[in-house]
Amino acid sequence: MSKFASAAVRGLVFSILTVPAGAATDATNRECADSPQRVLTLCVAADGRGPYYEVTRGTRAVIGRARLGLVLDGLGNEPATHVGNTRRNAVDSRWEQPWGEQRVIQDRHNELVVTLTGADAARTEPYDLRIRVFDDGFGLRYEFNGIPATREVAVLDELTEFRLSDAIGAGNFDAWWYPARGPDRDEYLYQRAPLFAVSLAETPLTLQSPGLYLSIHEAALVDYASMNLRRTAERTFKADLMPWSDGVLVRKRGPFTTPWRTVLVTDTPMALADSRLELNLNEPNKLGDTSWLRVGKYVGVWWEMHLNKSTWGSGDKHGATNANVKRYIDFAAKNGFGGVLVEGWNQGWDGDWIANGKHFSFTESYPDFDLPGLTSYARQRGVRIIGHHETAGALENYENQLEAAMALYAKNGVAVVKTGYVKPSGSIERTLEDGAIGHEWFAGQYRVRHELKVAAAAAAHRIAIVAHEPVKDTGLRRTWPNMLSREGARGQEFNAWGRPTNPPEHLTILPFTRLLAGPMDFTPGIFDLTFGHDKLNERVQSTLATQLALYVLVYSPVQMAADLPENYEQRPDALQFIRDVPTDWETSRTLQGEIGDYVVVARQQRGARDWYLGATTDENARKLAIPLDFLERGRYEAQIYRDAPDADFRTNPAALEIEKRNVTSKDTLDAALAPGGGIAVRFRAL
Ligand code: NOJ
Ligand code: CA
Repeated sequence: MSKFASAAVRGLVFSILTVPAGAATDATNRECADSPQRVLTLCVAADGRGPYYEVTRGTRAVIGRARLGLVLDGLGNEPATHVGNTRRNAVDSRWEQPWGEQRVIQDRHNELVVTLTGADAARTEPYDLRIRVFDDGFGLRYEFNGIPATREVAVLDELTEFRLSDAIGAGNFDAWWYPARGPDRDEYLYQRAPLFAVSLAETPLTLQSPGLYLSIHEAALVDYASMNLRRTAERTFKADLMPWSDGVLVRKRGPFTTPWRTVLVTDTPMALADSRLELNLNEPNKLGDTSWLRVGKYVGVWWEMHLNKSTWGSGDKHGATNANVKRYIDFAAKNGFGGVLVEGWNQGWDGDWIANGKHFSFTESYPDFDLPGLTSYARQRGVRIIGHHETAGALENYENQLEAAMALYAKNGVAVVKTGYVKPSGSIERTLEDGAIGHEWFAGQYRVRHELKVAAAAAAHRIAIVAHEPVKDTGLRRTWPNMLSREGARGQEFNAWGRPTNPPEHLTILPFTRLLAGPMDFTPGIFDLTFGHDKLNERVQSTLATQLALYVLVYSPVQMAADLPENYEQRPDALQFIRDVPTDWETSRTLQGEIGDYVVVARQQRGARDWYLGATTDENARKLAIPLDFLERGRYEAQIYRDAPDADFRTNPAALEIEKRNVTSKDTLDAALAPGGGIAVRFRAL
């Protein structure tokens, strides 16, 4: 055990040493770093083909001879062959999140920085490689510090590889993946497939073999292109950056640093889900005071549009009318919801809005929506309107109005804005220098820059953002805590559209894939699971208990109760769980799970002794014994919302039983989950 393990100073970096224990240098041109408890070892070296790295976990080789480097336009690109100028740090610190899945986060890693050079500086641009090795994974990034300040540089290729060691045993890895760069961005169902079936994958990419779980991703994606993974050999993935429309991958001026390339390496899927490496590799809060940030639960004029009961656009069926919004505000006030999302309030929705995003106004309301009147009506009832900016991918139109749009909302007391970018990936329009139109990917450098521009403009007005159709999460909420949540996966909306709806196993895959990147605005809580549809592929494929469990399973600081007020009014018994469940946590633990089969998560309410538990299963019924040893000493009242014995997502999805029983940490909860079922429990400290 490290000599620092017992020390704990909250919120402070309290030890940075220059020579840590556990660092080894085994030969010239090869430098190694162990993780703090010597679980992982990463070595960097160079041969005639350039630099590479290798990773072992205990005695098991995990990554072997994986290449490193960037190809830059106009700079010396001959491979670096020398590893030198070694610097080391050991860090064991704790820092506090303003809101989150865990209040205090430990950052414990060993850092190794080396300079990579060639024989001739004119032919090989020197750069630093910074490596941080944690017990549950590592991150590495490139730092080009020597480029003159005004020099423009284009990244033409990134050579970084993730080459699974042959020593693991060929062919026994499965990937949980979907193809990157499809028109629906990140809104796809995950498939389980052997490695040879994977082509170009989005990250986080989760890989599973007996007793070894990996997740390849990136952290701190700032002013760079998003990384996909191309399988280039039987067991090798290579970084594949989402290009600009002219083919350049990344444009930089002067010295620059890349995002972190990260790999979680664990022996259970639970350890993947509970890793905080992603956040630790982001920079600390740059916003300063964050006391103005509001997290919590919201309802909205939303699901009714997805069910075709009302419209975003104007006309007889317009959803965002004064009368209808007041109905939601009244419901929110009565049931303790802090926010009411209103979509379709602004001019621009009529006709084909996805094609005509440039017609959206972010300051002009439809005549039957009175922004100042409604925000004041809400305020008097302790509720706030949540704003909405659907851009349809027309970034220029939005950026032109960004300041006025945020100022208008701020003036009316709106503290959270949901953004949207519905546009097939690869068709975001950008005006080029010659006036022609370029078509950009949804997560190339152009869009990545845009997201920070929006977050900064919002922060200047004390507004937080929940982005739909976002650039994937890479932990930026640590640095810009007003980036509260985002979508970036197939959410509840697909269950209204039916093309097809999400199968039950989707919810058992997300916690070990997409959710490793960060919070998701899934929009749980549908109570009317069939809305008049018999076919499974046209309605929600889960039980009511599962819908409640999602408030614990899918972490987000803002959680929607997505169904219609009239449906909640039918089930006050089940609604009670949504009223009680918090969205801000002291700590979170993934207790049990198999990717694609089932998952159990427990979280403790921030600043309280209460705990909440959620579990769900795929299409198979399942019996789980869940030891309650996470509870503190003392007695708790367990308020259990579970599938009735005859519940089944296919035939009887709303059959729910509610039971109250006193328990302690010595008890075990026996949970019987129906097909597509789940369980949600509040443990109220007595
Ligand atoms: C897609 C978003 O995911 C959804 O929540 C929203 O209602 C529509 N776009 C319209 O903006
Ligand atoms: Ca969406």
